[in-house]
Amino acid sequence: MTGPAPAPLPSSARQLARSLRSRIARLLRPAPPKVDSAAYWEDRYRAGLTSGTGSYGRLARFKAEFLNAFVAEHEVGSIIEFGSGDGAQLELAQYPAYVGVDVAETAIQECRAKFADKPNYSFCKADEFDPSSRAELTLSLDVIYHLVEDEVFEAYMHQLFDASTRFVIIYSSNTDDEVAAAHVRRRLFTDWVSRNRRDFDLIQTVPNRYPFDPADPENTSQADFYVYRLGQSGG
Ligand SMILES: C[S@@+](CC[C@H](N)C(=O)[O-])C[C@H]1O[C@@H](n2cnc3c(N)ncnc32)[C@H](O)[C@@H]1O
Repeated sequence: MTGPAPAPLPSSARQLARSLRSRIARLLRPAPPKVDSAAYWEDRYRAGLTSGTGSYGRLARFKAEFLNAFVAEHEVGSIIEFGSGDGAQLELAQYPAYVGVDVAETAIQECRAKFADKPNYSFCKADEFDPSSRAELTLSLDVIYHLVEDEVFEAYMHQLFDASTRFVIIYSSNTDDEVAAAHVRRRLFTDWVSRNRRDFDLIQTVPNRYPFDPADPENTSQADFYVYRLGQSGG
């Protein structure tokens, strides 16, 4: 024998039940992992790992070839690089005066030791960087797609453009994606520059000599060069 069917819930009660169910589902869902890009890099260097495959081998040579030629051709006198890394890429550079800035203390210490014989090179932890420092050319090489947090990306881009008196060179991918890995979030940074730094003109883009090939990810890259110049009205 079955009892009488339960009376249907009034619609306000159905809404309440739906809302409770969705709240419970939200509470039970595992929280997305907290991302801290600075901690990621410090941990990585402290574990004895490197800046990554883009700073070694033929990709590093491609980057250095373009940058050294650019610095010579435009008689660039001073450079600040934001996200200077372990110094492997920098070993191929021919720069007249250089400041490397990085969030990872271990990478800064490594570079100070590696370039101790270069009085024209110095290194500084990102949170100790003097925001009034300026250079003719500022560099961002293989960094932007590692800026996973929006507020970190925003602050980094302002710092990169604020510090330049002539040129900014970015070597990065330039597409918008969701977080692709714990330390990878590709960004359409050219849109940010168009919106926020109209005083800079994009004067040159150079496609990678070794465009990304999933069959050979270590020796190919999604990054290309983007060269910005401060416009005449900008100073
Ligand atoms: C892939 S490595 C590239 C190193 C170097 N630019 C090169 O091309 O060899 C990325 C570097 O950016 C640094 N980095 C990440 N976030 C940063 C930030 N917000 N400011 C400065 N450096 C950052 C990391 O610590 C790491 O050394």
